[in-house]
Amino acid sequence: MTGPARNHSDVCLGGFLQAVILVGGEGTRLRPLTYVTPKPMVPLFGVPFLERTLLRLKEAGVDEVILAAGYLPGAIRDHFGDGSALGLKLTYVVEETPLGTAGALRNVAEHITGPFFVLNGDVLTSLDLRQMIEFHRAKGGLGVLHLIRVDDPSPFGCVAHDADGRITHFVEKPPPGTEPTNEINAGTYLLEASVLDAIEPGKNVSIERETFPKLLASGAPLYAYTTDDYWLDVGRPEQYVQAHRDVLAGKLEIGVTKTSGVIAPSFVGEGTMIAPSAVVGPYAVLGARVRIEDNAIVRNSIVWDDVVVGTGALVEGAILASRVHVGERASIATGCVIGHDVEVEPGVSVPPDTRLNGTQAAPT
Ligand code: GTP
Repeated sequence: MTGPARNHSDVCLGGFLQAVILVGGEGTRLRPLTYVTPKPMVPLFGVPFLERTLLRLKEAGVDEVILAAGYLPGAIRDHFGDGSALGLKLTYVVEETPLGTAGALRNVAEHITGPFFVLNGDVLTSLDLRQMIEFHRAKGGLGVLHLIRVDDPSPFGCVAHDADGRITHFVEKPPPGTEPTNEINAGTYLLEASVLDAIEPGKNVSIERETFPKLLASGAPLYAYTTDDYWLDVGRPEQYVQAHRDVLAGKLEIGVTKTSGVIAPSFVGEGTMIAPSAVVGPYAVLGARVRIEDNAIVRNSIVWDDVVVGTGALVEGAILASRVHVGERASIATGCVIGHDVEVEPGVSVPPDTRLNGTQAAPT
C-alpha cells in the first residue's frame, strides 16, 4: 500500500502537480523511422513530438513530468535533459522490460506525491488540460478519463458512462455493430495517487484492459470527460502524415508558421534550399537544411532534416527520415517510409507503400 501522503483527501490540486508520459513503446508501426528515432522524438514540423506535449503540460501548470521510458531513452534524455530549458522538472524512469501502460505507472510510484496526469505519448490533441483539472475537482472521484466521440469506435476502447459522467463499463475494440457508445478512451487521464495501489508491481499490466475495469469492479468512482477536441493517435505513417496535413489545413493550431514561395499550405525549415524550378507543396513539410534540386517535385510528404531530393526527382505522399538522398529522376510513391540515411539511386522508382531501412541503431 502507498502511504497516507498519497491519500486523495490530503491532496489539493492547486499544489505541486505532476504528469507521467508513457514513452516506452518501440513504435513498431512507424518503422523504419523508429529504428533510430524513438517515437516521442519523431518531428512534427521539425520539433520533437514530445516537446509540444511537454509545453502543453507546462501551460496547464504542471511542475514535474516523469517520462516512463524504455526504448532508446538516451535520445530523449540527450535532447531534453533535466527539462530546465522548458521550465519543467523532468524525471526519467527507464524500464528494463516493457511494463505496459499501468505497469509503467506503478514503476514510477515512488516519485508520485499527489494527483497526476497520465498521457499517452502519441496523442496530438487540443484538449484543455486546465479544464480537465477543474472537472476532476468538481467530481471528486478517483480519476477522470478524457473521451472523444468518433464515427467508428470499433478499433478503440469504448467507455460507457451514466448521465452524471460516472463510468459504468469499458469495452475494448468491440466488433462493429456492437459498440455500446461512440465515446472512446483518448489516452489522457487525471488520477489520484491511490490508483497506483490497484496495480501489481513488477508486472506488465494494461491500464485500459486491467486496472480501470478492476477499479470499476471495486466500486471506485471514475469519471468521463468528453470533449469535441481535435484528437489524433499518431502511431502509423498515415496518421503521421495526416497530423501535418491537419495542422497545415488549420484544424489544429500549434503555432506553426506556414511558408510562402511554395504551394500552400506547406512548411519549410531553417536553412532549406528549394531550386526555383522545383515544385514544393501543397502539404509538403520540409525539415532543416533540406535541398530540393531543379525540377524536383515534393508534394504531400514529410521530409526530415538534411535530406536531398535530386534534380527531376518526385516525392509524393511519403515520409523521408533524416539524411535520405533521393537521386536524380528517382521517384518515391505514396505510402513509402524511407529510413534514416537511405540512398535512393538515380532513376529508381520506389513502389507505393515500400518501407526502406538504412541505419539501424541498437536500443540504448
Ligand atoms: P507500436 O509498436 O507501433 O504499437 O507502438 P508502441 O510500442 O508505442 O505502442 P502503443 O502505440 O500502443 O503505445 C501507446 C503509448 O504507450 C506510447 O506512447 C508508448 O510509448 C507507450 N507505451 C506502450 N507500451 C509501453 C510500456 O510497456 N512502457 C512504457 N513506459 N510505455 C509504453
